[in-house]
Amino acid sequence: MMKASELIQLAAQAREKAYADYSGYKVGAALLAKNGKVYLGCNVENAVYPAGTCAERTAIFSAVADGVREFSKIAIVGGSGDRFAGYAYPCGICRQVMREFCDDSFEIILYDGKKQLKKTLAELLPCSFSKEDLKY
Ligand code: THU
Repeated sequence: MMKASELIQLAAQAREKAYADYSGYKVGAALLAKNGKVYLGCNVENAVYPAGTCAERTAIFSAVADGVREFSKIAIVGGSGDRFAGYAYPCGICRQVMREFCDDSFEIILYDGKKQLKKTLAELLPCSFSKEDLKY
């Protein structure tokens, strides 16, 4: 099983590809699938601001487009310019996209340049709405 520190390293590499010309806030994500594959993502902004997307969704959608839908963890790093700025918590939309494919125990690994912080999806998105709820 891949170590958290390795996944963080890959997220930091992905962050270098971020296209964040408007906010200047660069984010990288490394998503570990249950089959062992890793999918990278960065934020990709746009002159029409809402057309941009986050690093986490880039990684998740890349995996889904590759036919992979089962994930165990994601590492995320973010910050302006060359440095990490605190923990880059996933936004609400990304949390909901995680919920589509991941269960409560899905691990979200954050890194501020010094320390790691691990959260589960259940902690970051309690009382969530998911496809299970559509059955009722
Ligand atoms: N961003 C992410 O990539 N992930 C998050 O979860 C938070 C925000 C990006 C979106 C935008 O390009 C920039 O950070 C500032 O919001």
